[in-house]
Amino acid sequence: MFILPNNIRVAIAGVGSCASSLIQLVAMAKREEAGQSLSGIMHEEIGGYRIKDIDFVCAFEVDQRKVGLDLADAAFTEPNIAKKHIDIPLQNVIVTAGPLLDGIDGHLSQIIRPAEQARQVETKYVTKKLRDAQADVLVCYLPTGSYEAVRAYATAALEAKVAFINATPEPVATDSYFQKKFLEGGVPLLGDDLRSHLGATTLHTALIELFQSRGIEITNTYQLNFGGNSDFFNLSSPGRSTSKQKSKRNALNAAGIDASNVSAGPNGYIQYLGDNKVCYLRLEGRSILESPISLELRLEVEDSPNSAGVVINAIRVAQTSKNFGLSGVIDEVCSLLFKSPRYGATESEALNHFSNFVRKYSGKEFFRLNSKEEKIDERD
Ligand SMILES: NC(=O)c1ccc[n+]([C@@H]2O[C@H](COP(=O)([O-])OP(=O)(O)OC[C@H]3O[C@@H](n4cnc5c(N)ncnc54)[C@H](O)[C@@H]3O)[C@@H](O)[C@H]2O)c1
Repeated sequence: MFILPNNIRVAIAGVGSCASSLIQLVAMAKREEAGQSLSGIMHEEIGGYRIKDIDFVCAFEVDQRKVGLDLADAAFTEPNIAKKHIDIPLQNVIVTAGPLLDGIDGHLSQIIRPAEQARQVETKYVTKKLRDAQADVLVCYLPTGSYEAVRAYATAALEAKVAFINATPEPVATDSYFQKKFLEGGVPLLGDDLRSHLGATTLHTALIELFQSRGIEITNTYQLNFGGNSDFFNLSSPGRSTSKQKSKRNALNAAGIDASNVSAGPNGYIQYLGDNKVCYLRLEGRSILESPISLELRLEVEDSPNSAGVVINAIRVAQTSKNFGLSGVIDEVCSLLFKSPRYGATESEALNHFSNFVRKYSGKEFFRLNSKEEKIDERD
């Protein structure tokens, strides 16, 4: 029997649209009737944890409209645009100011006015808040391009011994400094750049694998993405999308093509799309007798819930890794959950690695402790 700590205590940095969808998904799971299952969920249980076992204990923001609010209210505060699928009960977590640094450089400074405290707080304040809240996992949802700010939260998590999930494309799990520090510190690290549950990258890499499995050489391809949320607004700032472009190309390279000249954007901010993301995808190739083959499709999804479907797996993997003493980058799961992992893989290899991890640490006889302090007891 494996004895588990209680619920997973999650901290959030950046209460934007992705965070809003995550909080809604967890709220929905908590009120789920017995026997009812939620749509689109890959794994009901990972490492003994169901989605309803996630609790939010701490949150950092810079927007003066969100700082000081309960997390449930901040989740629906402008400029967040994630659709409201459910009313969220008060979380009893007051959103606190985190270090601003380069968080809203570029176009975001037109729509976010930072709270005064955000200009003053330092990394060690984040470390203290994480410790005080007894957080297990920190999910970093900062805007793309916040290189310094993402590093500050990663450093705080490391110091507080809190597992770190980097949803952004800024390098943390792919940065050799942090790889070493998290490994030596005994802290799990997951990243970089969250994939979507079923989004453009996953579809593109799966189709590349399908073409290649039939011996078809891919001669040209593109993946054009458009959206109207603040993520797309931010990515339309010159210089703020560099890491995202690189991350998308990394995923395509790992799928088995040379993506150095492939256009795989963010390709434009179209305000009226709101949180809907539209992707146009094309593949061209050479098949039997050099005959041409091409495929074109259009994918439309709600962007923010699409990320929540992945982060609920990442959170449970991070906690499971802690429980079983794994530290540093958890490579087995990162190729499925992130666009830019340390070691990329094809779609089916990534799915296999992830399923192996889940199988290894799930379906056991788990027993919950009342006290968070006690460790896993591996008695059989
Ligand atoms: N499907 C998806 O939407 C998806 C998929 C993969 C990755 N991501 C990545 O996830 C991240 C979050 O996306 P989003 O759509 O929620 O963006 P968002 O713009 O809605 O939210 C970002 C939030 O971070 C806050 N912020 C800025 N600087 C901060 C700082 N220094 N400290 C604390 N908070 C700060 C902003 O005020 C904002 O509320 C982005 O990097 C995005 O690229 C999103």
